[in-house]
Amino acid sequence: MAELLEEQRESWGTRSGFILAAIGSAVGLGNLWGFPYKLYSFGGGAFLIPYILALFVVGIPIMILEFSIGHYTQRAAPDAFKRGHKRFEIVGWWGIVLAFVIVTYYPVILAYCFSFLWYSIVGIFTGGELPWAGEGIEGVENAKVFFNETYLGKVDIADARFYLGSIRWNIVLPLAVTWAAMYFCIFRGVRLVGKIVWLTVPLPWLMLLILTVRGLTLEGSMQGLAYYLDPVWSELAKPVTWRYAFGQVFFSLSLAYGIMITYASFLHRKSDLNNNAGIISIADFGTSFVAGLAVFATLGGMAFVTQQAGHAVPVEKVAETGPSLAFVAFPYALAQLPYSAWFSFIFFFALVTLGIDSAFSMTEVIVASIVDKTGWRRSIVLPALTVVGFLLGLIYVTEGGFNWLGTIDGFVNGTWGITFMGLLECVVLGWLWRIGTLRRHANSRSDWKVGRWWNYLIRMVIPVALGALFFWQLFDDITGEGFLRTAEGEWILPSCVGLGIVVFVPVVAIILSILKGRSDIGDAHRPEQGLVVGGRFEGAVAFVGALAVTGLLVVCLTVPMGEGAKQVILWGSLVGGIAAMLLSNYVLDRHHTSTSQASWSARWAGILAAMDASAAIAMMLIGLAGEAKIEDTAAPIRDKLSGVSYVILGVVLLIIIGGLGWSFYRALSAGKDTGIQHPDEE
Ligand code: PHE
Repeated sequence: MAELLEEQRESWGTRSGFILAAIGSAVGLGNLWGFPYKLYSFGGGAFLIPYILALFVVGIPIMILEFSIGHYTQRAAPDAFKRGHKRFEIVGWWGIVLAFVIVTYYPVILAYCFSFLWYSIVGIFTGGELPWAGEGIEGVENAKVFFNETYLGKVDIADARFYLGSIRWNIVLPLAVTWAAMYFCIFRGVRLVGKIVWLTVPLPWLMLLILTVRGLTLEGSMQGLAYYLDPVWSELAKPVTWRYAFGQVFFSLSLAYGIMITYASFLHRKSDLNNNAGIISIADFGTSFVAGLAVFATLGGMAFVTQQAGHAVPVEKVAETGPSLAFVAFPYALAQLPYSAWFSFIFFFALVTLGIDSAFSMTEVIVASIVDKTGWRRSIVLPALTVVGFLLGLIYVTEGGFNWLGTIDGFVNGTWGITFMGLLECVVLGWLWRIGTLRRHANSRSDWKVGRWWNYLIRMVIPVALGALFFWQLFDDITGEGFLRTAEGEWILPSCVGLGIVVFVPVVAIILSILKGRSDIGDAHRPEQGLVVGGRFEGAVAFVGALAVTGLLVVCLTVPMGEGAKQVILWGSLVGGIAAMLLSNYVLDRHHTSTSQASWSARWAGILAAMDASAAIAMMLIGLAGEAKIEDTAAPIRDKLSGVSYVILGVVLLIIIGGLGWSFYRALSAGKDTGIQHPDEE
């Protein structure tokens, strides 16, 4: 078996090569562009609660899962899943196709960064004038006009709902540059990637450090940080806050797109998995958090300077620009301060170097998946993908493109795309696959080991949490207005396309998995062949129970009834669902041994029961959030950080510094080689 897998697969040169490449993929535009504005828009410091929860309960455990399956099978995502069962290949392709959707628009944002980098360079050479500079509130308007109209040529949002408009030629060239850069980073395979990331990972960190120190030493910076960190607790009552927090964790850690699975497949046989996952995740969070500090401290400095100059621009006036934060608010703020062109250069250079390794991680993984499946030559697949990706990217390089990009990103990175995919990955690997094998594999080569609780996280806790989020948002979308149509009943085109894409993704995944590929793996290894089946009876009981709970929930949804009766049914379903899930879990624990396997009825019962429990939770949450009467309170305006914010700041820094310190300590004290063999080799 082992020899079969040891065929000449490419590999990273060193452990640090892998860690850096994985960090390179994880740390990207999501950190410096996405995180700060999401945190600000969804409750400031309060957003950190769902975020940190998601990071530790979902993010790190799933990264360990992806590393272990990739490393165990030494295959790109689709083939890795196929090792469990022929049908599971669909799950692998699902993630890869989602990555493909992202790789059509992610480089477009990078192209903006390239353009702004260019303007900054021109600014440096022409005496510091930046095209978006301006004074006071009108200056903010200038900056908005520069990005939205001069650069993007954006049409009115109301119109962008219905059409794309013509191509913006000024963005086509930077987009081509982006794709060319991505191509040259990976055309020689992962070994070169392992070297390039020595540049693309530390460089942006250095830039960020400069921006942070500069920001924090500006007068007024605390005022900016108050906007970043002062919590608005009421935001926690909205499903969208949680959805964004969880979605951001997946996106930022590059999880559930098959990226980390494939990257780990290039890893040497004897390499650490668990500790690497910890280091990468915490480093990613640290980068996001520090990026936010840099951005908001600078905005505070800007507010102070404009106040002094008599044309005060408060932080909230510019920070409200949301996704345009990096292209309007921040450049504007820099333009108010000394050496603006130089610092703009540093900022956009950081964005470009951060984003490029994330972007090429997507192409690399798509290419690896296709090559693994078909055996085609990399030297053909990569250029073809580059051209196709570039051409599809042109959709977003239009007058309406920015709005389309935002909407489609909302679908792909929202509940419908990534949350669902994460859920699927966990239930398939947790219930249908023998997750104990993966845990043993990961532990056998790691600086520290995960206990049985990890199985239960993947099998029960994460599916219930993600499922609840999924149903919560689903009910919210269906009942809310403006999901696919405007109030006047007109269809919103980008939303329809976005929904179409997420529905189409699994279809494409199914087709890809049906296509015949190289037949050297997959069926060759059936771990459970010939094992005795146990727990049929308990499995059947659990299944019937779970089915009954589903019936109850459907009744609760469709039949009108009083509030009291509804509460009884929901609590009953929750308890029933959890009970059936625990019973199935017991069957799996008991019968997955080296000579027997748990019945399929128990496995499916577990999945169904987990979904029951999460639907019940979602329905309860909807009731609660409805009662909580959400008021839109803006972040309070203060010159100083509030006491709570200091606590939040302290706790977060402790998590980041403590977490990284501990991981490195474990890595150093564990030594290089544990000498433990792969389970297949025993
Ligand atoms: N993690 C990257 C970021 O934060 C984006 C990414 C998503 C990369 C999915 C690969 C796959 O920007």
